[in-house]
Amino acid sequence: MKISPDFVQEIKFRNKIDDVISSYVNLKRAGSNFVGLCPFHSEKTPSFTVFRNTETYHCFGCGAGGDVITFIMQAENLDYIGALEFLCNRVGMQMPEDDGKSETVKRSRFYDMNREAARFFNKSLYSDAPGAAEARKYVFETRGLPKSAVTHFGLGYAPDSFSALRDHMRSLGYRDEELAEGFLCGRSNKNGGYFDYFRGRVIFPIIDNIGNVIGFGGRAMGDAKPKYLNSSDTPVFKKSRNLYSLNFARTNCADGLILCEGYMDVIGVNLAGFSNAVATLGTALTEEQARIMAKYTKKVIIAYDSDGAGVNATKRAIPILSDAGLEVKVLHMEGAKDPDEYVRKFGRDKFRALINGSSGKLDFLLNSVLGKYDVNIAEDKIKAAEELCAIAADIYSDIEREVYIAKIADVMKIDTASVKNDTERIRRKKKYEAKENEKRKIVMATMGIGDTVNRDYAKYTKAAHAEESILGMLFMYPEYIEKIRNGSIELSQDDFVTEFDRRVFAALLERGSGGGFGMLADAFSPEEISRMSEMQVARQALSDNSEKVLKDTIDALREAAKNYSHNATDDLDAAMRIIQSKKTKK
Ligand code: UTP
Ligand code: MN
Repeated sequence: MKISPDFVQEIKFRNKIDDVISSYVNLKRAGSNFVGLCPFHSEKTPSFTVFRNTETYHCFGCGAGGDVITFIMQAENLDYIGALEFLCNRVGMQMPEDDGKSETVKRSRFYDMNREAARFFNKSLYSDAPGAAEARKYVFETRGLPKSAVTHFGLGYAPDSFSALRDHMRSLGYRDEELAEGFLCGRSNKNGGYFDYFRGRVIFPIIDNIGNVIGFGGRAMGDAKPKYLNSSDTPVFKKSRNLYSLNFARTNCADGLILCEGYMDVIGVNLAGFSNAVATLGTALTEEQARIMAKYTKKVIIAYDSDGAGVNATKRAIPILSDAGLEVKVLHMEGAKDPDEYVRKFGRDKFRALINGSSGKLDFLLNSVLGKYDVNIAEDKIKAAEELCAIAADIYSDIEREVYIAKIADVMKIDTASVKNDTERIRRKKKYEAKENEKRKIVMATMGIGDTVNRDYAKYTKAAHAEESILGMLFMYPEYIEKIRNGSIELSQDDFVTEFDRRVFAALLERGSGGGFGMLADAFSPEEISRMSEMQVARQALSDNSEKVLKDTIDALREAAKNYSHNATDDLDAAMRIIQSKKTKK
């Protein structure tokens, strides 16, 4: 990380945290802080707090936390450098010039490299490169795309050649290793030579929210396998965190996003007049993608393929979207395998009617259960009723559940009271299970078991607790780090017992805490940053964080550490014994 701490400070100084966050969250003043509904999980009472004096935020509900930079990373789905760029743009600052070696350079070079490649692919579509004439025929005639769509989505063609792109990129100064790292070139196992990764394919550039080209999908024109070849994850591209065409859809999706399976579906839906369409990138829908969608809209219309695979994918996507707080509708398509084909076959007006008539997720689930069983057979009827009651049991709103129960009773020709009874029984069981689960989680958390951020916590509770107190204070007061550096407070990495806390301390020592959590965001995951924010918030709540307290805590850490080296049994065993004894008592 080569961006100077001073520069990061400057960005933070000009982007006041409450200013920035208030364009995402409706903040209300609470003393010297602000509170609002957390944008990172769904909640009804505000537990998201912005601390003015430390320029940090923390959600007491989901544990998300950090500073203005990590907030933008989470909210805009950007990485560290992307967030810095975003904040720079916001206040009209310039990112620093690259020095040729840094991570920043690498990233911006990746973006430039991808942009150049996209440009090359687009030009090649109109050139006399090998296969280009066939590609034009495929794109404009076979697939019937208007030139405007090709331009809008930046489509292109990768010539049917092992070196066309490589030669071009090398002439621009890109090295083979860079091209391979960006999945523009592959490398031969046999002779180590580099060759174009995409060959003889129609290219769909994948663009992030701030307009960077981050990856590519390439469609074979014939029967070549795979049908679509996609860039793998690179330093600037994570499939699970991006959606095709979100860069266009996000500004126009107040009424909902249309979620498709593929690139061509998104384009087809756009041609039918809907720019609010996105697609996953050759993988199943992830929770991250659902959360990202929930940032831009309240409703998602699933428009997956109408085949069995599409229906199954729809069933899997429904709870993921619902859990992200999204209203879910499902498009019901007949006579076409996917939205793209539907639009071409039946025209945009029919497709529009389809969107408007999309059914609620409950109707979709009802129909998919009914489709599986023959309700004239008693056994089947029972199974179907059971499945339907289980679906009804998951409905949160009393009114909606009531309506749905009546509908099940009607369709199945069963007494409403019976359906209601069964549904309520399942609800009680689920509630009980959820409660037990919650209890177990709390026990695990207090014991530090199942701690995925600091895996040593359970083993060394006492020391880990002291470490977190120390780090919390170091986050609050950068001057303590200065004193540690010049030796007036004695503390070194060797004093730390847990691996994670030691890593945090090392990073603080190297970079200081003046730049805030954002300074650490390239080296730690969002969960890890949230944990650090918890450490700070915990200390903030205490009135005495003086140097004396810090030194006492360091002593306490050393004392705890001593015990570990002498004592073979560790806290985990003790914790397990306690849990065991509680179980047997019950
Ligand atoms: P489909 O096979 O449904 O393709 O895959 P499609 O979108 O209808 O495309 P056309 O109309 O045949 O050209 C849906 C999506 O799954 C991913 C792609 O993202 C594709 O758009 N996929 C499919 C792959 O990543 N690799 C494959 O080999 C096939
Ligand atoms: Mn399809």
